[in-house]
Amino acid sequence: MTSKAMKNKKILLVDDEEGIRKVLKITLESAGYDVCLAPDGEAGLATFIREHPDIVITDIKMPGIDGIELLKRIKNLNPEIEVIMITGHGDMDLAVKSLQYEAADFITKPIDSGDLESAINKARDRIAISQNIKSYMDDLEILVEEKDKKLNESEKLVTIGQTIAGMSHAIKNIAGGLKGSSFVLEQGIEHENRQYLKQGWEMMKGNIDKITKLSLDLLNYAKTTKLNFQLENPNTPAREVMQLMTHRAKEKNIEFTLVPCTQKKLTFMDKDAMHNSILNLVTNAFDAFDDTIDPGLTRKVTLLVQTINSQIVYSVRDNGCGINDTIKKSVFNDFITTKGMNGTGFGLMTTKKIIEEHNGEIRFKTEIKKGSEFIIKIPLRTRV
Ligand SMILES: Nc1ncnc2c1ncn2[C@@H]1O[C@H](COP(=O)(O)OP(=O)(O)OP(=O)(O)O)[C@@H](O)[C@H]1O
Ligand SMILES: [Mg+2]
Repeated sequence: MTSKAMKNKKILLVDDEEGIRKVLKITLESAGYDVCLAPDGEAGLATFIREHPDIVITDIKMPGIDGIELLKRIKNLNPEIEVIMITGHGDMDLAVKSLQYEAADFITKPIDSGDLESAINKARDRIAISQNIKSYMDDLEILVEEKDKKLNESEKLVTIGQTIAGMSHAIKNIAGGLKGSSFVLEQGIEHENRQYLKQGWEMMKGNIDKITKLSLDLLNYAKTTKLNFQLENPNTPAREVMQLMTHRAKEKNIEFTLVPCTQKKLTFMDKDAMHNSILNLVTNAFDAFDDTIDPGLTRKVTLLVQTINSQIVYSVRDNGCGINDTIKKSVFNDFITTKGMNGTGFGLMTTKKIIEEHNGEIRFKTEIKKGSEFIIKIPLRTRV
């Protein structure tokens, strides 16, 4: 046998014939392998577990655990181990069976050193190939991860760019509004005109509301900390929004109705974030009664809370202007607003993010001049 042995490779030899063990040990050691021996399948398995050999050579016929059984158990423990079977002349069936169980090769007794060498070389090649494949796969995984990271980073940069652009636009609008209101206030002071003062002050308050809403939305959108999930009555955030918006509804001549959920079920949610989401939808519904709406129309906005199939469902329905096809596709994604100075286009983006963080979904149905319905569904969760 030539000394093509792998450095430090260990071979376990299992054979019940002492003579074979002795001869093969000398042959293998002189070829440079570390060799450990076992006289039967049971001892072979114990030695395998203890010594971690790279290659196992085992007799196929042995008392107790035979070679095939040993092969199966070794492959079970570590499928990468190569096992060479030693067979007698009449053991062809067993030899074929051993190949089915992924034996690397088989050699027949009496053992020819050339056959032994070629079987070991074959096993060694298989080990090298599987190691190569493994390291190739590892490299591939790292490569894919790196590419993924780069892609995410550039996606993030694009999103940040869009966010800043949208924010600048929204802040510019509010700043314009504040400038306008301070001009009216100045005029009121200069001319001691109460009407101007009142008007300027109302404009100022409106803009303060807008900047407060924008900063709340931004805060919610950019929040990296986990939401504060508490066991809540799903009606609570809806009731809060109802209270907050009742006055505005009267001002805008809107019949605003809350239909709470009658089932007394509690669920885990971030109540404040949910309040914000419902408020965004209700504000949008109120804004749906713009100048294009027939003045004779009875303006209706309904906020409905339900429990359907272990889901909490919030629905906000209006009979306002509806959403046109151009905006429909992007209301959740971009800083899309049709409200000019009065909108930032941030409301639905934030709402969607909050709902997704509750593992829920938000959808809408809309028809021009008939109205829209926004539906939030979150899973009913009684445990964290
Ligand atoms: N119920 C609705 N009826 C009609 N249009 C709607 C409705 N809800 C949303 N929209 C349309 O979707 C756009 C985006 O809504 P979104 O809430 O994201 O922003 P916004 O209301 O314009 O501004 P804000 O950031 O102040 O909420 C609105 O400008 C409006 O055109
Ligand atoms: Mg809005």
